[in-house]
Order: sequence, then structure tokens, then C-alpha cells
Amino acid sequence: MKITFAVVVWAMGVAFVSLGTARGAGEARAPATFMYILMVDMIGPAANSLWAATAAPTLSDQDWVRVKQSTTRLSESAPSVSFGGTTTGDIERAKSSAWTSWAAKFTDKVSLAANAVERRDRMALVAAADDLLEVCEGCHVAFPQTVR
Ligand code: HEC
Repeated sequence: MKITFAVVVWAMGVAFVSLGTARGAGEARAPATFMYILMVDMIGPAANSLWAATAAPTLSDQDWVRVKQSTTRLSESAPSVSFGGTTTGDIERAKSSAWTSWAAKFTDKVSLAANAVERRDRMALVAAADDLLEVCEGCHVAFPQTVR
């Protein structure tokens, strides 16, 4: 009994260690690049809250205030998307016509959404938010992450 227990504990230890090693060596963790941080900290949360709001059938005054915060954050992020980052790779990428084109579409759809918020035009906001999703996906397909 005691031996079996010890073996199990030992086996668990080995499993634990090898899991740790596998993780250290192979876990697909994206490096904290300029673009990654911008996407994860700013653009992702703002876009998600915009899409959550546009999924609802109506928007209360409070919702419009919140949506405006989202479109403001997205508008503030747009120049950084165009800028593209600080590494040599980032700078090269930002010069490509694909990047400038997706970044321009991003700026365009975000500004349509922001204008719709100013007018409290829910239909226009929903359309801009849908188009924005296509821009996110389009750029992600054109520039898949190096580490995933
Ligand atoms: C002009 C190109 C471009 C546009 C437009 C763009 N992204 Fe990204 N996004 C990237 C790149 C490049 C990365 C990978 C960054 C890295 O890891 O270095 C990324 C990564 C991300 C990530 C983190 C990695 C992941 O796959 O989960 C999130 C979240 C994200 N983007 C959300 C969005 C959202 C939401 C939008 C639209 C509102 C958007 N992005 C629009 C280029 C873009």
C-alpha cells in the first residue's frame, strides 16, 4: 500500500515536472509586442463592449454613454494601428500596402461608429460595428500572429 502510494506520488511528480518543462519550452505565448498590448488592452475590450451593446435590441441613455467610451477608445487607438509598432519587423509591416489598407479601413469604420454614436443612430452603429468586425478579421488573416 505504502509503496504504491509512493509510486503514485513519484509518478505525479514526474508528470508535473514534464508538464512544467513542456510548458516552458512549447507554450504558445505571444510576446508582449506593441501591437499585442494595444490589441489586448485597448482594442479588444473596447470592441467587445461595442459589439455587446449593438447586439441588444435597444440602447438606454446609459448604454449610449458606454458605447461612446468604447468608440472613443477605438478612435484613440486608430493612429497607433496605423503606426504599427517599434521593431524593425513592425516598421516594415506598417509600410506594406496591406497594413496601410487595413489600418485605413479600421480608422474609417471606427469613425463611422463614432459618428453614429453622436447622432444616436442605432442602425448606423450596428452596421459600422458589423463592418468593423470584418476589418479585425481581415487584418488578422493578412497578418497572422507569429506565436499562437
Ligand atoms: C491593421 C491590422 C489589424 C487590425 C485592423 C486589427 N488587428 Fe488585432 N491584431 C493585429 C496583429 C498584427 C496582432 C498580433 C500582434 C502580436 O502578437 O504581435 C493582433 C492581435 C490581436 C489580439 C490578440 C491576439 C489574439 O489573437 O487574441 C486581439 C484580441 C485583437 N487583435 C483584437 C482586434 C480587434 C477586436 C480588432 C478590431 C476591432 C482588431 N484586432 C483589428 C492586427 C490588427
